[in-house]
Amino acid sequence: MSDLQDRIRAFDSDARAAFAQATTAEALDRIERDLLGRAGRIRDLFKGVVALPADQRGPAGAALNRLKTELEAVLASRRQALAAAPAALATDTPRFDVTLPGRPPRLGGRHPIYATLDAILRVFEKLGFDVARGPEIETEWFNFEALNIPLEHPAHDQWDTYYLDTQRLLRSHTSPVQIRTMQRLKPPLRIVAPGRVFRPDTIDASHAQMFHQVEGLMVGERVSFADLKGVLTIFAREYFGPETVMRFRPSFFPFTEPSAEVDISCFLCAGKGCPACKQRGWMEILGAGMVHPRVFEAVGYDPEAVSGFAFGMGVERIAMLRHGIRDIRLFTENHARFLEQFK
Ligand code: DAH
Repeated sequence: MSDLQDRIRAFDSDARAAFAQATTAEALDRIERDLLGRAGRIRDLFKGVVALPADQRGPAGAALNRLKTELEAVLASRRQALAAAPAALATDTPRFDVTLPGRPPRLGGRHPIYATLDAILRVFEKLGFDVARGPEIETEWFNFEALNIPLEHPAHDQWDTYYLDTQRLLRSHTSPVQIRTMQRLKPPLRIVAPGRVFRPDTIDASHAQMFHQVEGLMVGERVSFADLKGVLTIFAREYFGPETVMRFRPSFFPFTEPSAEVDISCFLCAGKGCPACKQRGWMEILGAGMVHPRVFEAVGYDPEAVSGFAFGMGVERIAMLRHGIRDIRLFTENHARFLEQFK
């Protein structure tokens, strides 16, 4: 009896393993025939039952019949599963061709915004500017008041931002880093401050609610507008090409006086007019000016003793001009086909 029980147990586990490994309906048919068919392995087991003493025959036969019914059910469900997803099950058995060339892993690359940022900073670093950073969460004083933007003044609207609570806000420009740097250092100083800024603008092809800026600040005893022009001209020629011409248009910023908006001659059409510059021949790249005396007063510098210039540029904008990218949203949509072009 115990020998027969062992054989039945082995048969049971062999059958289940064979069903699970089969990947085609044909293989299942064959296994069924070999194990459960009339001439299959189960027949020998029934013969073993018949050979038992009369009092054991009944229960042993009933148990073997139950097992047979059970295995038939397992077989049926395996047949169904194979019919439903033959391909997926077929790959259960891993097969690979060791002679095939390997699949190289896809390498990531730098994001075009950070590549642009690095290229911009490199130019200013060559001119002796240090890199300074400030927090993305600011106070009204750093983001507005110290920069001569009174809270109730209409100019304030241009730098409207997200408030976290009544005390804290997300900086709407990198200009507060000017204030933090001047509080920390004594003149003369030269810094560029890269970073993210935030504005509740309506999103479209040229507006995002988060973007990057590079701020510049140089302060010393006799820093002049000519120095500003010289530094920015070197930047434009290094970054956009040696033929680049600059144009300063009078403008207004509360933290500089005088202030200018700075254009470069279109590097695609050399100023003749093309779709990239919207037929203007010029592309606006940044805002700049001479640091306002009130800004110096806010940080405890003597406006009679020092002077300085500042500028601020949008990194997305510069990357878009340089690479002919038409929609700022592409930078944050994370499509590999877009990003891979800049690797
Ligand atoms: N902070 C200005 C903005 O976000 C950009 C800017 C303009 C910065 C003139 C400057 C500057 O430092 O002098 O629109």
